[in-house]
Amino acid sequence: MAVIENQRGFTSNLGAILAAAGGAVGLGNIWRFPYMLGQNGGGAFLLVYVFFVLLIGVPLMMTEFIIGRRAQSNVVGAYRKLGGNNGWILLGVFGILGAFLIYAFYSVVAGWTLNYIVLSCKGGLAGKDPAAVAETFSSFTQGSFWPVFYQFIFLLLTGLVITMGVQKGIEKVSKVLMPVLFTLLLFMCVRSLTLEGAGEGLRFLLKPDFSKLNATCLLSALGQSFFSLSIGMGAMVTYGSYIRKQDKLFSTSLWIAGCDSLVALLAGVVIFPAVFAFGMDPASGPELVYIVLSNVFNSMPAGGLFAIVFFVLLGIAALTSTISLLEILVAFAVEELHWKRRTASLVCSLLVFIIGVFCTLSFGVLKDFKIADRTIFDLFDLITASYLMPIGALLMTIFFGWFYPKAEVYDELSNGGTYKPRAFGLYYFILRYLAPLALAVIIISGLVG
Ligand code: PHE
Repeated sequence: MAVIENQRGFTSNLGAILAAAGGAVGLGNIWRFPYMLGQNGGGAFLLVYVFFVLLIGVPLMMTEFIIGRRAQSNVVGAYRKLGGNNGWILLGVFGILGAFLIYAFYSVVAGWTLNYIVLSCKGGLAGKDPAAVAETFSSFTQGSFWPVFYQFIFLLLTGLVITMGVQKGIEKVSKVLMPVLFTLLLFMCVRSLTLEGAGEGLRFLLKPDFSKLNATCLLSALGQSFFSLSIGMGAMVTYGSYIRKQDKLFSTSLWIAGCDSLVALLAGVVIFPAVFAFGMDPASGPELVYIVLSNVFNSMPAGGLFAIVFFVLLGIAALTSTISLLEILVAFAVEELHWKRRTASLVCSLLVFIIGVFCTLSFGVLKDFKIADRTIFDLFDLITASYLMPIGALLMTIFFGWFYPKAEVYDELSNGGTYKPRAFGLYYFILRYLAPLALAVIIISGLVG
């Protein structure tokens, strides 16, 4: 494929969509979404989630793209360029901090997928009863060597892709892995839906029970939509700076959010019918896909094969997301600190590893070390998804809706006035009033409740 010279970013609109969808689709969709849904009452959560994605997620993703593409810069540079000397640069710093924290705990779970790929290839789960499967999970995650080792390998893999650059690394890898991911996911869906008793799981996923909805639930759904779409901490600002000037940002955002929600929904379709068909607990929390699904695979014909497929799928989803996380940091280091890409990638990965090890060990030797009743891992997850990302997004809407000139927003969205963007009035209304209001209400009620 021809690589366009002198262009800093993606070579095509498809490349941009696949790379950003790769960043969005991740453990958030296949690991986090199902257990959040399981713990928050099923269908009602799904409905609220989809509502947030459409109403706030798509407009805010588009906003991040506009900011990044307008500034042609990493997240800190973008707020410096567009915000002037008014302190908005802090929003960029916020983004870098968020990326660090997320990458630190995200790489723990990403590392687990490598262990489970190896384990399922060796047939190490086959024939184990549920107690033994749970024991395998806890003795692995509570260990000190292997989880750290796999976390390291994952950081290394990600670092290698990032070192290869935006076009030859991020875009190329996403173009191969995203279609593979979709194929594997559809394969798993067919398996799950043809299980006897699949209907109950589908009902759990799709039938809303509104009695389960409360403020915490809304905050979780909002946090999940931000986490899943990678909004509120600069990932999409960074990728936005790589989108070609002639690409339409609204349809690009819609495609990415569509892919992301579809994958979350399909992951639910894979997981819940299987969980119900085999009598497992849908509300079992973060270990849902590791322990519960391992049991499910064990009780299925040819389950060993499906286990391999599933964990490879999870690993691919995680990798395209860790790539986007590291790129936020590396783009910053390259553009602001003038480091070489390779050095930036190495140093950032090492720093994340140093913090990330504490997250890994919070399942083992550090499990009793708690702050505000939470382990380090849980704390990082909570701080980023429930606070940093929504608050980051709130500040972004205030900056972009109230302080940045409307004409410039229109100019960027319309690609310099070359076409008329759809529903600009509605977008601007959401940016200025609806999104900040909804965000403020939900953040405050989450804090109070
Ligand atoms: N969106 C990713 C996921 O769903 C996680 C992520 C968040 C990646 C923020 C980058 C930035 O797994």
